[in-house]
Amino acid sequence: MPFRTIIEPFRIKSVEAIPFTTRVTREVRLREAGYNVFQLHAEDVLIDLLTDSGTGAMSSAQWGALMQGDESYAGSRSFYRFRDVVSTLTGLRHIIPTHQGRAAERILFHAILSPGDIVPNNSHFDTTRANIEVEGAEALDLVIAEGRQPATIHPFKGNVDLERLEALLASEGDRVPLVMVTVTNNSGGGQPVSLANLRAVRALCDRFQKPLFLDACRFAENAWFIKTREPEFATWTPKAIAQAMFSLADGCTMSAKKDGLANIGGFLALNNDEWADRCREALILTEGFPTYGGLAGYDLEAIARGLEEVVEEPYLHYRIRSTAYLGESLVRSGVPIIQPPGGHAIYIDARALLPHIPPLQYPGIALVNALYIEGGVRGVEIGTLMFGRHPDGSETPGTMDLVRLAIPRRVYTQSHIDYVAEVVAAVAATASSLRGYRVVQAPATLRHFTARLEPL
Ligand code: F0G
Repeated sequence: MPFRTIIEPFRIKSVEAIPFTTRVTREVRLREAGYNVFQLHAEDVLIDLLTDSGTGAMSSAQWGALMQGDESYAGSRSFYRFRDVVSTLTGLRHIIPTHQGRAAERILFHAILSPGDIVPNNSHFDTTRANIEVEGAEALDLVIAEGRQPATIHPFKGNVDLERLEALLASEGDRVPLVMVTVTNNSGGGQPVSLANLRAVRALCDRFQKPLFLDACRFAENAWFIKTREPEFATWTPKAIAQAMFSLADGCTMSAKKDGLANIGGFLALNNDEWADRCREALILTEGFPTYGGLAGYDLEAIARGLEEVVEEPYLHYRIRSTAYLGESLVRSGVPIIQPPGGHAIYIDARALLPHIPPLQYPGIALVNALYIEGGVRGVEIGTLMFGRHPDGSETPGTMDLVRLAIPRRVYTQSHIDYVAEVVAAVAATASSLRGYRVVQAPATLRHFTARLEPL
């Protein structure tokens, strides 16, 4: 098309009102919430960018598919439809539904890990790391150096550091039961992995005879980055690129709450028959019979349809462009972000924006709370509150102090995003007046969800 404007590739058939609040109300609600936005009631939030997980809008075709759900306990028609879509996409032999991504992780790692094992990845997501560590194994992040530098521009900042992976497999290979790659790399800023890098990881896995698993939550967004940044694939469809990515893998874990375009669900898919048997046994204990795995028949229908819609070109074009659009607006206002913008979220470098607030006074929390008070926008701190406390009770600064603005799929329009950019710019303009926080009460683990704080 000859026009520059990339439009939302849908029209809106059903709307949900969003609740407007006053600044005074927000100040009261935030105080009641212990200055922790996880403790807010969502109806006190105007634009909710806490996560892109399970928060997307389903299409009319998905809502229609819900009525086709077959709720039979065993052998449901909806399972076979789901299985066929997933196996066409991934080419993997065993398709095991789960209620969300972390259930797939839990079942896989419980079935195959032993204490002392090492699982390398570009960067493990928190639940992946936790599910590995609970088995007494070690979760090792091997992303390339550029992937750890917020301001460095690189087309594939999610790539695996091949030299470090090779060195690990050569020196400690007997402790590595599988290699993982997360597409896109959420913990590193939603950054993509190139197909060339995946092929090179595959070649190392072949040389050392290790299975390769994808954490595939955002596989379609990753496929779009490959299409637009890796010349070899410029003319390929996103679906063909996704199939090429999966063809390199022996298995995957998936949260359908992201690129499944569903509100709940996930799956584990793999080729190894013996591992699959063990996983199905574990599945029955906690998730349910292998043809529903903790989901209703209608959820399986919604995911099957969502996996088809998510690889459509107009959708991905709009999706990745709309994230970049927010990033570019923030950069124009002088707000430091992880560059280049990732697929599902913009990550603001709060430590750089608020240099007067030391990491142990949580600059990320100061920024998250200011965004909420200023405009009712909810983001999430990924920094010292989330990662700074250690099992022995000591506290050190997190690697970075970031604020993630994650964009739900097909939910907000360009004017919502313009509003968010205005709110962030207004807060950034008064950055030097923001104050840090101290923790007044917190549990021993995962404190960021429930900690109560106080402004300094
Ligand atoms: N892997 C990645 C890369 C993720 O981003 C997530 C979830 C999971 C696994 C776990 O999936 O939530 O369905 O159990 N990420 C969400 C987020 C929670 O906000 O980034 P789940």
